[in-house]
Amino acid sequence: MRKRILSGMRPSGKLHLGHYLGVLVNWKKLQEENDAFYFVADWHALTTEYERTDVIGESIDDMVIDWLAAGIDPGKATLFIQSHVPQHAELHLMLSMITPLPWLERNPTYKEQLREQTTRDLSTYGFLGYPVLQAADILMYDAALVPVGIDQVPHLELSREIARRFNFLYKEVFAIPQAYLTETPKIMGTDTRKMSKSYGNAILLSDTPAEVWAKVRPMVTDPARERRTDPGNPEICNVFDYHKIFSDEETVKKVDAGCRTAGIGCIECKKWMYENMEKVLSPVREKRKEIVGSGVSVRGILAEGTARACGIAKEKMREVRDAVRI
Ligand code: TRP
Ligand code: SF4
Repeated sequence: MRKRILSGMRPSGKLHLGHYLGVLVNWKKLQEENDAFYFVADWHALTTEYERTDVIGESIDDMVIDWLAAGIDPGKATLFIQSHVPQHAELHLMLSMITPLPWLERNPTYKEQLREQTTRDLSTYGFLGYPVLQAADILMYDAALVPVGIDQVPHLELSREIARRFNFLYKEVFAIPQAYLTETPKIMGTDTRKMSKSYGNAILLSDTPAEVWAKVRPMVTDPARERRTDPGNPEICNVFDYHKIFSDEETVKKVDAGCRTAGIGCIECKKWMYENMEKVLSPVREKRKEIVGSGVSVRGILAEGTARACGIAKEKMREVRDAVRI
């Protein structure tokens, strides 16, 4: 049975391996036998980037090219821009009426961002409502599955609660969505912090092989392994975590034993890992070349998808207004 799939990404420019393994792999898989909608969450970007909005527009093309390079197919999935479907704003408003403040104030992501984002003032009405806007995005399309990264699970939980509350107060209008996660464990940045372009610890889908190796080669390993002859502990080595993601079982075993006995060197170990990582990256790189060479219009693809999304959103809003009797 075909299911409705919906997911969005904030336009933050070029994407990295974390986006690919955590989200895009599932976007690609789910587009095959379902009705998938993937969108550029530019209003969500605005909640944090309201002071430098030029980066939002500039990032859209880079990000969508990465989607296509990762195998997202506009012939299968509907790709659109959130702010070009104004019904999302109307539904956000309606949902904001029934969302209790404490649900938003106790959201762990909200509290963490308020604490960590010291360079911008996030004590705004819009930022507090971030998950309500996300609920509007999801509920508008009656999405059954929402392929996201694990960090988005609390937001999904809120979407479910808001949907249940609306259905209870008015009428069964919304399907209850479910988060859909990848099996790959979360990949950390090359410096073991969260992978993020702003930290400079991210391996980008658009990096050349030389750029990838330049990021892998200096990765910190077991700090106790100062000399080639010192045995190491793979359990505390980020390179080993990467092996578990990119290498086959046999290689992982070989690395584990070789590290503990000082049978292999760290550079050799990184080289193997890099080669296996390249097996994931090089097809994406090839596809990008093909896409850029074909002169495809990203904005054209998004315009086509936006028209399709608008059709569904208009219908849904009619149902919502009926249910609320407004
Ligand atoms: N909050 C999501 C993120 O930061 C982006 C997003 C916005 C989203 N609306 C959505 C994801 C709806 C899934 C469904 O990654
Ligand atoms: Fe890490 Fe590999 Fe070096 Fe062991 S041999 S410390 S797993 S890089």
